[in-house]
This record gives sequence, C-alpha cells and structure tokens, in this order.
Amino acid sequence: EVWNPSGKYRVISTKPMPGTRWIRLLTDQDCRVEICTLKNTILSVEDILALIGDRCDGVIGQLTEDWGEVLFSALSRAGGRAFSNMAVGYNNVDVEAANKYGVAVGNTPGVLTETTAELAASLSLAAARRIVEADEFMRAGLYDGWLPNLFVGNLLKGQTVGVIGAGRIGSAYARMMVEGFKMNLIYYDLYQATRLEKFVTAYGQFLKANGEQPVTWKRASSMDEVLQEADVISLHPILDKTTYHLINKERLSNMKKEAILINCSRGPVVDEVALVEHLKVNPMFRVGLDVFEDEPHMKPGLADMKNAVVVPHIASASKWTREGMATLAALNVLGKIKGYPVWSNPNN
Ligand code: DGY
Repeated sequence: EVWNPSGKYRVISTKPMPGTRWIRLLTDQDCRVEICTLKNTILSVEDILALIGDRCDGVIGQLTEDWGEVLFSALSRAGGRAFSNMAVGYNNVDVEAANKYGVAVGNTPGVLTETTAELAASLSLAAARRIVEADEFMRAGLYDGWLPNLFVGNLLKGQTVGVIGAGRIGSAYARMMVEGFKMNLIYYDLYQATRLEKFVTAYGQFLKANGEQPVTWKRASSMDEVLQEADVISLHPILDKTTYHLINKERLSNMKKEAILINCSRGPVVDEVALVEHLKVNPMFRVGLDVFEDEPHMKPGLADMKNAVVVPHIASASKWTREGMATLAALNVLGKIKGYPVWSNPNN
C-alpha cells in the first residue's frame, strides 16, 4: 500500500498500523509511505531486505522483527538514517549495530503505560478470581447451582502486591493495585522510584486524613525479598542479558505456594519450562502471562494448566495507545529525516 507516491522521502512501515494520523504526519512532510501488507505475521530478515531495496530513508518496524547488523547495514546502504520500533521494548533491536551504521533508533514509551498496567491488573484479577476457568465452566454447561466451594479464589484487599521493575509501567500498575484494591506494596528496582514513592506517600496521607485503614509499602533490598513476601508479583524489567530467566526454578520455589505471578514484560524473563513444572506441582500457584519465551509458541504443557491465564501479547492493545504508538514511531522517523529531534531514543 503506497501513500503520497511522489513524496521525496521513502518511509516503510513493515506492518499496517492503526489509524491514519501517523500516515498523514509523514505524507504532510513530503514522505512517500509504503506499508507492507505481506500476510505472514512475522517478517523474516529477507522479507525486510526486499522491502528496504536500493533506496529507503526510514523504517517503522515491529518487535517481532530481528533488527540487527544485516538490516541496519542494508538500511544504511539504501541511504536510511532512521528506524523506529513501534514498541517501548527494544530487545529485538541491536542499538550498537544501528549506531555503527549511523541509523538513529526510536521507541514509543509513555503512550502505553496505563494500557499495559491495566492489562497487568486485569490478569491479576483474572488469576486471583479464576475468571477464565469459571467462564469455561459456564460455557461447558457445567453450572448446576450455587455452591460454597465453587471457584473460590483470593481476596486482593490486604494482601501484598510485589512489583519488580518500578519504572513507568510498574509504577502505574502498583498505583492501580494499591489504590484500587487496597493492597500493601513491596517493590524492587535498581534505580530510585521517585514517581511511585511520591504516590504511596501521598496516598498514605490521604487514607490517614480520611480515617481509613492504612496500606503499608516498602522498597525491598533484593528481588528475592519481593518474591518471598508478595502475594501477587508483577514483572516489569526490560529484557537484556541480566534479566534473562530472572524467574527460574529456584526463585519460583521461593515464592508463596498460593502466589500469583504476572508477566507483561518479555517472555524470556521467565524460565517457562520451570514455570510449567511449578504450576503442575503447585495447583494453588497461579500465573497471568501476556508474553512467552518462544513467542508465538507456548512451552509444552502450559496450555493445559488451569492455573494459568494466557493472552497473546496484548498489553498495549487499546485503540488510543496503539494509535499513539504508531504516531510516535512516525515522529521518530520523521524527526531524523527532517532534522527535528527524534521523539524518543533509547540511547538517551
Ligand atoms: C512494547 O511496547 O514493548 C510492548 O511489548 C508491545 O506494546
């Protein structure tokens, strides 16, 4: 699909993206926009090389693509100086290779914070209240009357939510769980979590002023402290060498037997084989997963686990957010082409 065929700058989007605002932004600034409509969900390096061709000024790509040395050198040879992932995560992008070939890299933080945190909260509730199991039970026609023991789950109020990685998304999630469900909070981050601390301090004062029962909160001195103390744990680190299999067999065994683990970050942060084993032997342990180690596949056995809620990497999938992500990705590429500042650059 081609927009503004006579545009001076050739910008490629490897996938159709929601809305038209991002297209207008580019075409209004003399870009010819080419949108790849190949049916395969995940484009190979060869597919993308063919798209780049001999001349290309910038590319908007997706987290499913492997943006490494091969693609950045090809983009650079084609005269391209700009690449943006339509994602906040950029573990699929070799930023060093991009730098080496003079290609600026952008990502799309900010617009997906609340949407992603809302999905993490949804998975927490779905796991705690066994919503998917109960839904399947209803649809199978198995409900034949109210019972005291039917789908008994966990009450979140008064339990402890643990957040690993208190950046934008982790902090928004923590706020939702503390304010929405009166959970106590324990969190771990390598950096200062000023935004989160300001919120919990102010919220504590608000509860006190209104004579309500206070919630407690603390910064953990290690990740293991969070795993041992929390009832619901949500993972929000970036994926890199240091966070690969952060949650492994040993760490799973350190968690409470009835804990809930949520992952809306990246699949390889959790050792999924160890997780499946853990779910098998601990039926009261529950998990809510948006991401998978070998996406789009699940490790054998995971799909059979009643104590797992699984969704296909949809944490940022609200209309507002996805249109925002497309717009930011377009702005990033446009910025570099036209010499405006790149809106968001993971190097900064
Ligand atoms: C991201 O942006 O990194 C999410 O995984 C997809 O929205």
